[in-house]
Amino acid sequence: MAKVKTTFYCQNCGAQHSKWQGQCNFCKSWNTVIEEVIQSPKKGDWKTLSDNKRSEFPKPLKISDIDTTSSPRLDTKDDELNRVLGGGIVPGSLILLGGEPGIGKSTLMLQISLLLPFKTLYVSGEESQNQIKLRAQRISPDNNNCYVLTETNTQQIFKQIELLEPDVLVIDSIQTLQSDFLEASAGSISQIKQSTTELLKFAKETSTPVILIGHITKDGTIAGPKILEHMVDTVLQFEGDRNYNFRILRANKNRFGSTREIGIYEMLGDGLKQVHNPSDVLISKNDRSLSGNAIAVMLEGVRPFLVEVQALVSTAVYGTPQRSTTGFNGKRLNMLLAVLEKRAGFRLGAKDVFLNITGGIRVDDPAIDLAVVAAILSSNNDSSLRENYCFAGEVGLSGEVRPVQRLEQRVMEAEKLGFNAIIISKQNKFSLKTKNIKIVKLSNIEELLDYI
Ligand code: TYD
Ligand code: MG
Repeated sequence: MAKVKTTFYCQNCGAQHSKWQGQCNFCKSWNTVIEEVIQSPKKGDWKTLSDNKRSEFPKPLKISDIDTTSSPRLDTKDDELNRVLGGGIVPGSLILLGGEPGIGKSTLMLQISLLLPFKTLYVSGEESQNQIKLRAQRISPDNNNCYVLTETNTQQIFKQIELLEPDVLVIDSIQTLQSDFLEASAGSISQIKQSTTELLKFAKETSTPVILIGHITKDGTIAGPKILEHMVDTVLQFEGDRNYNFRILRANKNRFGSTREIGIYEMLGDGLKQVHNPSDVLISKNDRSLSGNAIAVMLEGVRPFLVEVQALVSTAVYGTPQRSTTGFNGKRLNMLLAVLEKRAGFRLGAKDVFLNITGGIRVDDPAIDLAVVAAILSSNNDSSLRENYCFAGEVGLSGEVRPVQRLEQRVMEAEKLGFNAIIISKQNKFSLKTKNIKIVKLSNIEELLDYI
């Protein structure tokens, strides 16, 4: 292959350098100089450029004239993934899937490749064909549509694609790819950028969806340049606690759908199983009568589900009381404790407080506040809450119980799971008639204290 000319640019200030160097000569920032392929400039004035070939250029179209019926979304046969993507894979889209090592990215993508009724090519730079076969056997024993290739050179990959003409391409992982055009080693910023550019071009030109698996760095962002996330259409994040089996798939960016939906999976011995009814698995049936347990109705995206909050309050042995949380924001816990101290007269400064959301999931929904407060009070009094009660309310700084979004959905979910009562804010408008569930309205924490 003819050697392509490359040069080195500073990503920060754009200055050009003749060789790689650690620090940019001009803006003095470190580690910003990267190698890039030089595109030779076309001759002629910018306005008259390629005038003779004008007919080949894409023309502006009226938006009403654009036909989308000929390219419907591909159904992945996986309801969770379909929902997160906004109803299936859009042809020609570039999807990036990131996540911690060992969380199950390769497993998920291999499973999707095996499920898909189309010709899929799974390119791995990390595992041999034998290893992939072993994994595939655990997930689904027979499939004739999925091809596996072990290769890291992008030009070789494109050669194989030309021969095979797959309908879907999966790359595991983008950090292992290496383009002939650059000398930089695989995984470097310039290689990642170059390989992604090539794959993006391939996806858009052939309308083949491409799914990239990406490594993440220590602080949880996808390894490589930020531009990678700008280039792709969809950024998916696969997360979960490795000590638990639950995995959550979220869209951090989605050009073709909402980013509010999540998919929930359970990692089993034979691959990832879709969890259609998360509440059933997230709350335990037997220990509700223990003190310090409260059930919250939370919302992830537009899906309501119930989680169990466990609190343990004990006398602080050391000078400074300990606060520890799993699955809940520690700062928010401190705020709730301060509110409790001020409004409910609790001397929590002399107590250790531990808080745990069971199932290893992380909750951001403020509607869980009320359950957190109830669990803390329950543990502090060492008396259990009434069984079959659940909570949905935010707690404000002055101790008021604030309304939550989409209350109807939450109440319906709680009713479906057989709860007798749900405790909510007085300000929450709720007009629905419910048969089997009592609605208890509170305006502040003092009332909650009296109530439990
Ligand atoms: P993997 O997909 O290799 O993770 P990643 O690509 O994100 O690094 O997942 C590896 C883990 O998944 C490994 O610890 C074993 C577990 N696993 C199962 O529990 N069941 C299975 O069927 C498979 C294939 C893997
Ligand atoms: Mg992997």
